[in-house]
Amino acid sequence: MSFTYIDLFAGIGGFHQAADSLGGKCLLASEIDVEAKRAYTANYNLSPHGDITKIDAKDIPDHDVLLAGFPCQPFSIIGNRLGFDDIRGTLFFEIARILEEKTPRLFVLENVKQLSRHNKGKTLQTIIHTLENLGYKVYWNVLNALDFGLPQKRERTVIVGFLDNDVCFSFPTNKTTGRLEDILEPDEDVDAKFFASERIIEKRLEKHQSKFFPSVWHENKSGNISSYPYSCALRAGASYNYLLVNGRRRLTSREMLRLQGFPDTFKIVCSDSQTRKQAGNAVPVNVIKAVLKDALHAEAEAEGQRRERAV
Ligand SMILES: C[S@@+](CC[C@H](N)C(=O)[O-])C[C@H]1O[C@@H](n2cnc3c(N)ncnc32)[C@H](O)[C@@H]1O
Repeated sequence: MSFTYIDLFAGIGGFHQAADSLGGKCLLASEIDVEAKRAYTANYNLSPHGDITKIDAKDIPDHDVLLAGFPCQPFSIIGNRLGFDDIRGTLFFEIARILEEKTPRLFVLENVKQLSRHNKGKTLQTIIHTLENLGYKVYWNVLNALDFGLPQKRERTVIVGFLDNDVCFSFPTNKTTGRLEDILEPDEDVDAKFFASERIIEKRLEKHQSKFFPSVWHENKSGNISSYPYSCALRAGASYNYLLVNGRRRLTSREMLRLQGFPDTFKIVCSDSQTRKQAGNAVPVNVIKAVLKDALHAEAEAEGQRRERAV
């Protein structure tokens, strides 16, 4: 199955990984962060354009599929500043603007789980109505990376739209949890800088004994510790210090990338702190791969049925 796509708010290319593995060819990426751009260029041999708000939609090449993990900040703007009937001025509008001009046959968008509940669901409804008004048949769901072979509890709102309104789509319901064992590097290979001090390790052990090994320990803001045979959601910011493998050490950059489904062929060219931020921002590759694969099949099926009816 070959198709062309564009990768907006591209980060380090979680969408890119998924799309290329299904036969996609990226025609344009857009990403504003200099370090993420550096990582993207090193890995995909394609240098992302910068700020999407500065790109004229007419300059974007025709493409089959639009992929975008738009930043979660704008939806609170939708709710708090502009009201729910006006999405102008938000980064979601950039997607709508490009869809309107380029009319790709399919799009897949991703955002945080909270988008689906924001202002009692009205924000998401506004987004869906906007997409439907552009002629798309739209589906959405909240999917968890844990169900797609990754040992990370990461729930995300995924929105899929088809220009072909005959398409019938249902979201994949995989239920394969990945094993933490397959993600973790052996402790002896991990740099000493990732290990907590003996004092911190002892303090944690006084508070918590894990039922699981290996496990990722998570300390919440009130200091309560829980541990599971999977990681809680990686975040671009604070979570790093609160996640400890077996209560002893932080996750390495490679482990974080693996938790998001990036293969080990992904080149780490940025610092650990930048890679940690990038991995925390990324979309779980396995989730997008499963959704995109089913979406492309659903399209092909609708086309096949049309052809059958025509003969
Ligand atoms: C949630 S992250 C998406 C990450 C991506 N899906 C991945 O797998 O790495 C959102 C990204 O949008 C980028 N961004 C924010 N504003 C932007 C803009 N105006 N133009 C282009 N990129 C932007 C951020 O730097 C961030 O990397």
